[in-house]
Amino acid sequence: MSTPAYTLIEQAELRERNSLRISARAQHLALVHDAAVLPTLFADPRFRDQPVRVLGGGSNVLIAADVEGLLVHLDTRGRHIARQDGDSVRVEVAAGENWHELVLWSLGQGLSGLENLSLIPGSVGAAPIQNIGAYGVELCDCLHAVTAYDRQQREWVELDRNACAFAYRDSRFKQEPGRFLLTAVTLALARKRPLRLDYAGIREELDAMAVSQPDASAVSRAVIRLRKRKLPDPAQLANAGSFFKNPVVDAELAAALGQRHPALPRWPAGAGQIKLGAGWLIEAAGCKAYRSGDAGVAPGHALVLVNYGAASGADLLALAGQIQQQVATRFGVSLETEPVLL
Ligand code: EPU
Repeated sequence: MSTPAYTLIEQAELRERNSLRISARAQHLALVHDAAVLPTLFADPRFRDQPVRVLGGGSNVLIAADVEGLLVHLDTRGRHIARQDGDSVRVEVAAGENWHELVLWSLGQGLSGLENLSLIPGSVGAAPIQNIGAYGVELCDCLHAVTAYDRQQREWVELDRNACAFAYRDSRFKQEPGRFLLTAVTLALARKRPLRLDYAGIREELDAMAVSQPDASAVSRAVIRLRKRKLPDPAQLANAGSFFKNPVVDAELAAALGQRHPALPRWPAGAGQIKLGAGWLIEAAGCKAYRSGDAGVAPGHALVLVNYGAASGADLLALAGQIQQQVATRFGVSLETEPVLL
């Protein structure tokens, strides 16, 4: 018997499908096994006039309430080297693949580019939405194009990197929710690419590992060690990674804050702009390890909000609001939330 193109679950419980382990229901959940069915699915009279949302690995979403309409989860697999041109290699990956498994596979193929993005939870199709980033690298540094179904124009499109409007933890897909359904991602990797070792902590970690001549795999191992030490494991303590973006402010405000608080982490962020360490601001505002019911701030990293058991999306949003207020009062800086709100 062949696999159906999709499986529909009515009133689906989402608790096991989001890393914050928020309990909520999706009215219609479609688990899509073959992306080619998407136009047919959207044209189905049962869903034609309903809101459509997408759920990837569920590791960067805050489910605020039950989800009305159709929720699509791509369950597709496949990754292969699509083109090799000397040193540069294009890799095509289905949206349903797991991100970290892809990173390990690419390293196993002798390809570099993704090593700094090791151990980020979530699916490949979700990675472009927030332009995942870590340890000095963002997805847009090695993304060539995405394949998507455009629900507005009712057509399949291939969008190159420029058309994706990537920015820090942002993209066109985050700005136009529900329009594009990403089904595949093409990455531009290399057989040999200079390693990015400048982000604080990487060189120290390689030293601690006694690696003096690092290759991409060693950098990946260093990043995995750093992340395991700093960030709570979603399998142990429910969380969605950074809950806030690092705020980008005018250089003037950053300089004034830096004078009063020399330890505040600051990074250049384009003309006249400075990015501030939100984790530091939250900790300095006294919110680290704060807990209100089952919603809390991770004891080890103030940027991460956690669910100790039965916190709802509303509980986490209320806690986020309190933190935003404390940081605004104390430092005059407003924090934006990072996960996608469902
Ligand atoms: N810091 C504190 N207190 C804290 C947390 C951090 O003072 O509780 C300070 C650290 O001491 C350090 C600085 O803030 O000096 C930066 O900390 P870290 O290297 O952990 O990075 P981050 O800016 O807090 C960002 C990303 C992470 C990513 C790391 C490493 C955002 C929103 N977050 O965090 O991404 O792993 O850099 O590159 O940009 C995610 O997006 O989910 C995520 C975890």
